[in-house]
Amino acid sequence: MLGIAVLGVGSRGLEYMSFVKYFHRKKAKISAVCDFNSTRLKEVAEKFKLPPDKCFLDEDEFFAAGRRGDALFICTQDASHYSHAMKAMDAGYKNILLEKPVSKNIAECEELARRAKEEGVHLVVCHVLRYSGYYRKIKEILRSGELGEIVSINHSESIAYFHFAHSYVRGNWHSEAATSPSLLAKCCHDIDLIQWFMEEECKQVSSTGSLKYFKKENAPPGATERCLDGCKAKNNCPYDAERLYITDPFYKATFIKYMGRVLTDKIISTKKEKYETLKNGDYGKCVYFCDNDVMDNQIVTMNFASGKTAVHSMSAFTDKMFRKTHITCTKGEIIGQDSDSKITVNIFGKGGKKVRTKIIKLSGHVEGDIRFIKRYIVK
Ligand SMILES: NC(=O)c1ccc[n+]([C@@H]2O[C@H](COP(=O)([O-])OP(=O)(O)OC[C@H]3O[C@@H](n4cnc5c(N)ncnc54)[C@H](O)[C@@H]3O)[C@@H](O)[C@H]2O)c1
Repeated sequence: MLGIAVLGVGSRGLEYMSFVKYFHRKKAKISAVCDFNSTRLKEVAEKFKLPPDKCFLDEDEFFAAGRRGDALFICTQDASHYSHAMKAMDAGYKNILLEKPVSKNIAECEELARRAKEEGVHLVVCHVLRYSGYYRKIKEILRSGELGEIVSINHSESIAYFHFAHSYVRGNWHSEAATSPSLLAKCCHDIDLIQWFMEEECKQVSSTGSLKYFKKENAPPGATERCLDGCKAKNNCPYDAERLYITDPFYKATFIKYMGRVLTDKIISTKKEKYETLKNGDYGKCVYFCDNDVMDNQIVTMNFASGKTAVHSMSAFTDKMFRKTHITCTKGEIIGQDSDSKITVNIFGKGGKKVRTKIIKLSGHVEGDIRFIKRYIVK
């Protein structure tokens, strides 16, 4: 039985722990947890039946206790990943699963990669999309050679207005200095996919983008600084926090409505508790009056060694969350959208076909998350 220690039991940490518990209970179990948020730590300890000597509130005590499992999942916030991965190696962990992005400092990324290699540490970054059935199928078609060589990739990520508002305007990733630029936070997966498909070195990158919309000059007349402060624009505002987090009916609700733990720290929160945090916390702020500075739209162009090119675009302004990919090759093309289970493959002069992919229909990249943990535990 493999023991898995988890540093940071927030959204990601708890999700991975739940996958271990529900899908891999015969092979692995949670052996220790550390989180400086006492509410979260206590709830997780109860849910996973972990005694006090396996629960740490302080990272120094956690690391000083030495290796607390066969593997460590590092699921803390972006700015801590480098130092936590270094401390994990100091503590003797040989299997580390590190949340993305590794760091916004390239020297830190290189240092971690170098050290892991030298010390024989299996350091895996959570680029979960590589593990989803959909992207693995695209990779398989490309590798088969039937489409010839890749010429260009046109890839896009539609973040969805509500998701962007939650994470990049009101939430954890609203400030570039505190965490990461939005492209790094959201699209490191996409850049990773493009690099994975291309299988050759990227020689040149350029990028442009802006924070176009979520600024105070775009606030509608009558908007107040918090949604619950008598905002007169509330009824016509798609970003109204009360609606998104509490009152939207089931058939209309986005996944944001089910993010109660992000609001209150508690796995199950009452309506009253949610209202309380919307009144006082960041998630109740008007999207036009937040201290956000990350871009809400950005484009990247990439040139590769043999003349292949790629474009990636990211936008907050879409109704749904999905990624589209169009890969043109010398003998054919692949066209797909990751929320579908089919990919269109056209072979020049021979016509097209629809290729089915095995995907678990869940919102966002949860499909990739499940398969990622499955592969990790097996390895
Ligand atoms: N792989 C993916 O697709 C994916 C998706 C979303 C988020 N992420 C990344 O995962 C990471 C975690 O995101 P999240 O949404 O779970 O955030 P979160 O804020 O919900 O969770 C982070 C947890 O770490 C704890 N923590 C932070 N610093 C700590 C420290 N020094 N000691 C102890 N506990 C500490 C916090 O209290 C919190 O509970 C982020 O870096 C994010 O960018 C990855």
